[in-house]
Amino acid sequence: MYYRKPFAISFSSPGARPTLGCVAPPGWYHGLVKTEPKVPQSPASTAQPVPMLDLKRQYRVLHEELVDAVAQVLETQQFILGEPVAIFERAAEKQLGVAHAVGCSSGTDALWLALAATGVGPGMAVVTTPFSFFASVSCILRGGATALLADIDPTTFNLDPKAVETVLDGPRGAAVRAILPVHLYGQTADWTSFARLGQARGMKLIEDAAQAWGSEWQDVRAGALGDAAAFSFYPTKNLSAAGDAGMVTANSDEVAERARMLRQHGMRRRYYHDEIGWNTRMDGFQGAILQVKLKYIDGWNRARRTVAERYHALFAAAGLAEAGPYPVHGVVLPHEVAGSRHAWHQYVIRTPRRDQLREFLASRKIGSEIYYPVPLHLQEALKVLGYGEGSFPEAERAAREVLALPIFPELREDEQRTVVAAIAEFLE
Ligand SMILES: Cc1ncc(COP(=O)(O)O)c(C=O)c1O
Repeated sequence: MYYRKPFAISFSSPGARPTLGCVAPPGWYHGLVKTEPKVPQSPASTAQPVPMLDLKRQYRVLHEELVDAVAQVLETQQFILGEPVAIFERAAEKQLGVAHAVGCSSGTDALWLALAATGVGPGMAVVTTPFSFFASVSCILRGGATALLADIDPTTFNLDPKAVETVLDGPRGAAVRAILPVHLYGQTADWTSFARLGQARGMKLIEDAAQAWGSEWQDVRAGALGDAAAFSFYPTKNLSAAGDAGMVTANSDEVAERARMLRQHGMRRRYYHDEIGWNTRMDGFQGAILQVKLKYIDGWNRARRTVAERYHALFAAAGLAEAGPYPVHGVVLPHEVAGSRHAWHQYVIRTPRRDQLREFLASRKIGSEIYYPVPLHLQEALKVLGYGEGSFPEAERAAREVLALPIFPELREDEQRTVVAAIAEFLE
């Protein structure tokens, strides 16, 4: 009944990249990530709860280092910006291969800062995706600009460059000054097309890289691709703080300088306000914690890749993998675009009876999540944008079919077998 063609595993070799400063602490098995996933004969059906995300597993390993880092902030009393944040910013720049990193208080503020620092504001329009977290659109409106939406590519779930072009050629296209693609689930948006479009049309390109620490497009890391980028360090992200935190990155000195000025009330000189900015500073505790975690993130991302490869192999072995982009009976597996590097923030399948499957998994105490159940143009708060049901059919369909499965570096193989066995049982 299912599409039984073996699913092609299209990953590049996980060991192929330099490790960019990842040092595994003693006993940290992710330093030993296998290069090839085992293809299992059949999924086991051991009944056990599987969490969507278990941050305590990471904390148990890093406990001492984190406590020391927090204690150091208490010793120095540098609670806002200061050395802990500056050290993190310099290390982040090095790891991402970008000229400037500017720490701030959330991914949402980072998006607002990135737009404002690149000169996007009132009287201008920005094109983005309807299939993302709310902040991808709200930041545009908060900055006083107009948000225009374009549909997504059903294979990657990312903003479709062709759909953007249609908007640019449409009646409201003349006001567009920037494109804001989101690297959804950790898969970089099609940057070859967006770079071409940006150059041809004189558009600023702002990356929503909130979910994409460590992802790459043709060997360039997310964060170093656009005119500016925004990261979130919300606790569930690949690189996570112990609270809210975010960061703007940019290669231009001018953009970075503006972002630094805007993050503290438009001050270049203490108590001399050149512009109306905002208070969106990163605090010292977050800087210190992120400094510690930055050393391990590449290893964690490699472990996420192993988890993703194992899911691919398990679903293929169970005969559930369908070619897509739309599911028929089984599941369409996530796809890594050739020439890119997925950060596997989420492992998102498509399946036709998504809500029933989610309920079934919940009854087995298996975590799952829907990112996102309502596309942005249909959100109550965004009705003002003037779109309606049917405006973006790909985003609307994705919202009905996507299901994110448990993925985090410490997820065990037996737990993944439990997840796939439960899905196989439901789809029988
Ligand atoms: C795609 C995307 N953009 C923006 C944000 C906002 O980040 P934060 O929650 O740190 O404000 C998030 C966070 O969930 C996100 O996933």
